[in-house]
Amino acid sequence: MIRLAVRCRPDLAELVLAHLVELAPGGVEEETGPGWIEYAIYGAPGELPALPDLQAAAGDGLVEVTSKEVPDDWADRWQDFHEPVLVGGRILVRPSWADPQPGTIDVVVDPGQAFGTGAHPTTRMCLELLLGLDTAGLAHGPIADWGTGSGVLAIAAAKLGFAPVVACDHERPALEAARASAEANGVDMELVRVDLRREPAPVAPTVVANLTAPLLPEVASRIEGRPERVVCSGLLVSEVDEVADAFAAVDLREQERRASGDWACLLLAR
Ligand SMILES: C[S@@+](CC[C@H](N)C(=O)[O-])C[C@H]1O[C@@H](n2cnc3c(N)ncnc32)[C@H](O)[C@@H]1O
Repeated sequence: MIRLAVRCRPDLAELVLAHLVELAPGGVEEETGPGWIEYAIYGAPGELPALPDLQAAAGDGLVEVTSKEVPDDWADRWQDFHEPVLVGGRILVRPSWADPQPGTIDVVVDPGQAFGTGAHPTTRMCLELLLGLDTAGLAHGPIADWGTGSGVLAIAAAKLGFAPVVACDHERPALEAARASAEANGVDMELVRVDLRREPAPVAPTVVANLTAPLLPEVASRIEGRPERVVCSGLLVSEVDEVADAFAAVDLREQERRASGDWACLLLAR
């Protein structure tokens, strides 16, 4: 088994992550250090790409690309990477092989073909802001999840009391993974294949959107309908003002801003 690691400057994290998620939607590891972020994917020898497109796009922002052999039983040990994540003391996102915790909102998501095991800071912050809406008595009514990946945010939203839930993604494997996760969690949701670069996003009074930053201003400028509030992440701290401005232009103003490491999350409302 080969581990292919890409280490880059934090301002390129999103570009590199987006590139690697396309290649290995279920299994991108993240590590951070002083002035760098490293993403790694795993595959059999000969299966992993040479990444010429990424190298060209990232230019001198790539600190290094390394590949090394790891033991073949990594395939059995990968489960160790996926620990349950307790968010805000209330939502437990766990793989099916971990035990539930009494008194928590249980969201079961097995790592597979889609981003979203709850461990990424952007997913966690979206969940925290959804919990904040719950505390404010706003976790009800329709919700739309843009870029649902494994369906983790849509499932958590349904369990908090939002209904109906509509979730979209442009990747078929993500939609299949989200469908399987919804079933495993006993949650009803509509899943639609939408390419947010070209097509209108499904709109509801509440929207959660953990997308990459270049897409968020674009989607904001083309919103059809009138969401009352949007929780969005997938953006770096350095990009948060630009995203907030794009939403302010359509009357969705910043209410709360959070950061975790290099990543940021916003709550916007009318
Ligand atoms: C960072 S992941 C978030 C997954 C999950 N919502 C979470 O919070 O863990 C972003 C998701 O957006 C989807 N996505 C990216 N570009 C998209 C586009 N143009 N249209 C629709 N979905 C897109 C990706 O396929 C991926 O599943």
